[in-house]
Amino acid sequence: MNILILGSGGREHTFAYKIKQSAQCDTLFVAPGNAGTAQIATNVAISVTDFEAIKDLVIKEVIEMVVVGPEDPLVQGIYDYFKADNQLKKVAVIGPSQAGATLEGSKERAKEFMMAHNIPTAAYESFTQETLAQGQAFLETLNAPYVLKADGLAAGKGVLILDSLEEAKDELAMMLGGKFGDASTTVVIEEFLDGIELSVFVLTDGKDYKILPTAKDYKRIGEGDKGLNTGGMGAISPVPFADAAFMHKIEEQVVKPTVNGLAKENIEYKGFVFIGLIKVGDEPKVIEYNVRMGDPETEVVLPRIKSDLVQLFKSVDAGSLAQETLEIDERSATTVMVVSGGYPEAYEKGKVINGIDAIEDSLVLHAGTTVKDGNVVTNGGRVIAITSFDTDFRKAIKKSYQNIAKLDFDRMFYRTDIGFDL
Ligand code: AMP
Ligand code: GLY
Repeated sequence: MNILILGSGGREHTFAYKIKQSAQCDTLFVAPGNAGTAQIATNVAISVTDFEAIKDLVIKEVIEMVVVGPEDPLVQGIYDYFKADNQLKKVAVIGPSQAGATLEGSKERAKEFMMAHNIPTAAYESFTQETLAQGQAFLETLNAPYVLKADGLAAGKGVLILDSLEEAKDELAMMLGGKFGDASTTVVIEEFLDGIELSVFVLTDGKDYKILPTAKDYKRIGEGDKGLNTGGMGAISPVPFADAAFMHKIEEQVVKPTVNGLAKENIEYKGFVFIGLIKVGDEPKVIEYNVRMGDPETEVVLPRIKSDLVQLFKSVDAGSLAQETLEIDERSATTVMVVSGGYPEAYEKGKVINGIDAIEDSLVLHAGTTVKDGNVVTNGGRVIAITSFDTDFRKAIKKSYQNIAKLDFDRMFYRTDIGFDL
């Protein structure tokens, strides 16, 4: 079948790499894609939220499956758009309906869902401009640090963790006053959870599910996980501290009630659930849902899946996921993200990237890259992820770093401590 992937990051290059391994994939399209996807698929220069242009492409190229990478088209209802259109409704869309996507699109909705289905999470209350005074009074009842979350999508910047009560009260007023536009009309204030983070990925057809490999992401720009938040600077899979006993708790207390909760609410959900968790003592607590795969987590999770990804997706679409078996590569995978100097703040684009061809025994997964005058050049903050495998994650990370040393572009930057805390 012909398949379309929506997106342009390292996540989508990894999807393309896995999907190309399937004998069931004929022509693969990526919209808009990057220099890496251009090497293995056909890039089409359309935006992931231009549903009409996507429809035209799907009809013209006889595409039978659309794999949605980022959250924006899901939150804007691409699944429902396809299912409501006579020409498109038979196309398999891998991603939830708009109702399902609210788990990521609204933090308040996600908290209400967790409460309704008894899923362990931090205690919380939510506030609007009208209840600002109550919100500030609620902060006084909590201990530092204070966690404030803009309800809506705020490009990964909507969560503030503050040590001072005064600062938290001021920030609450600013957020409700429009600091993140419509995204912070409602603000969730929640209990701070002290523990270690990990991510669990679930593929579901709305009834049954497969738990994919776990991953740990390194979110901050600086060594020792200091400095500004980024989309993610590196990841490892599996997470060494997620042993069988802890995974059993996650499956029973989080995964099953999540999938069953969606079904009980009659929500169509054929796609990924990315569950952000904090391990507090020995207990899992959910800090967020995303309705897509993570980036750069995908760069370590998907390459460890040995099963045919297209077959899994076909079963997700058909509602027969229970019949599939998931085969996992037991080795560890690690990825290190190479970024443009200045990221996650202002950075330049168009820098020629040298050394890609010298990389051996690692996967080169392109993120913000494009081709200009025959050269691969930078085209985003996060530029290339280097994924490596080994029996031990420390050996794998060493391979990623040895290969990154061969790469070079003006103001190239990467963290040198991925996995060092474990
Ligand atoms: P989120 O956008 O919900 O993933 O939040 C961004 C980051 O803030 C998370 O990755 C955590 O590191 C942190 N965080 C969110 N909620 C909490 C919480 N209740 N307690 C401690 N840290 C949190
Ligand atoms: N790496 C975190 C995310 O994709 O949301």
